[in-house]
Amino acid sequence: MTRAISLHHVSKTYTRGVRVVDRLSLDIAPGEFLVLLGPSGCGKSTVLRMIAGLEEITEGELRLDGEYANDLLPAERRMAMVFQNFALYPNMTSRGNIGFPLRIEAPDEDPRARVDATARMLGIEDVLDRYPAQLSGGERQRVAMGRAISRHPSAFLMDEPLSNLDAKLRNHLRAEIAGLTRELGVTTVYVTHDQAEAMSLGDRVAVLRGGVLQQVGTPRSVYALPRNVFVAAFIGTPRINLLRGLVRAPLDGAMTISLGKQYLRLPEPLSLDHQLLRVQQGREVIVGLRSEAVRIAKRTSARPGEMPITGLVEHVEFQGHEVLVHFDTGSRPALVPDLEAPRAAPRQPRRRRRDGTVLDRLRERAVSLRAGPVVVLEDPPDPAPAPADARLPGDLVVRTTPDIDLRRGMQVPLLVDISHLFVFDQHGERICPSPDRLPDLDE
Ligand SMILES: Nc1ncnc2c1ncn2[C@@H]1O[C@H](COP(=O)(O)OP(=O)(O)OP(=O)(O)O)[C@@H](O)[C@H]1O
Ligand SMILES: [Mg+2]
Repeated sequence: MTRAISLHHVSKTYTRGVRVVDRLSLDIAPGEFLVLLGPSGCGKSTVLRMIAGLEEITEGELRLDGEYANDLLPAERRMAMVFQNFALYPNMTSRGNIGFPLRIEAPDEDPRARVDATARMLGIEDVLDRYPAQLSGGERQRVAMGRAISRHPSAFLMDEPLSNLDAKLRNHLRAEIAGLTRELGVTTVYVTHDQAEAMSLGDRVAVLRGGVLQQVGTPRSVYALPRNVFVAAFIGTPRINLLRGLVRAPLDGAMTISLGKQYLRLPEPLSLDHQLLRVQQGREVIVGLRSEAVRIAKRTSARPGEMPITGLVEHVEFQGHEVLVHFDTGSRPALVPDLEAPRAAPRQPRRRRRDGTVLDRLRERAVSLRAGPVVVLEDPPDPAPAPADARLPGDLVVRTTPDIDLRRGMQVPLLVDISHLFVFDQHGERICPSPDRLPDLDE
């Protein structure tokens, strides 16, 4: 019995009228694995808790299998929630913990068979008689999962269930969760701020920023056709390069986008998407280049659709199977406020320091982020001096193979694959490829 979960214009206001979730609409199909993805404080847990019935819905409608469900008690929803800081009962063995919800639900039945079956599924048969203190982190996490799934819930709600585990265990359990929920075919809503986790787990990913849904789609479609710079920058590693450019579209010449002192010439005849850029003539735009859209020219010449620029090597990051090269191309990066490293954040005004508590300042900052623009094109009025360790070397990161020997200070010819070019307008909305472009239907 798995459920369709649908949210229609759902909002949540705590105190002082701040909407932490703002008119969220989402339709989650029975058996679907949906990931809610976004930075800290964007409202992910709040959404999950509203679905679970642990938090009241301020406005809007929650429907379960089409039935109005705003007022159902949590128990009536038959959902299982796995929290980030899952708590096991320390005085119960794994068997006791997994069987606990079963004993509450049906006190007269022996939960033994269900507990054994659940433990087998999770590979923890050997630790059923141990107490939580005698388990490793991963085993504890699996017992917590076992407790959530033992009573065959109609949906799983998971709130960053892996975030306090080490990377290796996280990867391992990630694969297990994906396998398990698909095997059980139970609708799952999974919250994370880790885009790699979202991309590897989700049938679809819903990206939230400041309580507002930015985009929902398959991992492939949000990567390939991000609606705005926020989604583009949040998804994918290394992060997409976002450079400030200026569109020049003379009537009698080639259309170009200048990036500082260099420029990209758009190949003729202009593609339909590039023709759309004509109306941006003379305007500042944001050029988005994923690392796979740029390559080091070596001795090969440009392929059709590739345009040359040059970059000065600032930093070479060795990653084993690949190398990330940070280039300075002389262009200026565009900033995405919610995602920037400390270096990029403009200095906060000082005047309230004396009377405001730290909490007040954090709250103010959270509100200003929520209301703020997706992208900042103005130079910060009073840029804070960059702490040496927070400096972003260069403005363009290119991925390459480890056999290429590059050192700091080298001038290197680069080729930009224009067919992989993203262009966003001054507000951060995607204008190229055309916003009307839909992901391929065969996904
Ligand atoms: N009980 C509450 N009262 C007032 N504000 C709250 C309350 N709970 C959460 N908030 C605020 O609502 C916003 C969203 O919180 P939420 O916990 O949903 O974020 P999140 O996306 O889960 O973040 P994280 O990734 O850090 O867990 C935050 O700004 C938070 O401070
Ligand atoms: Mg949370």
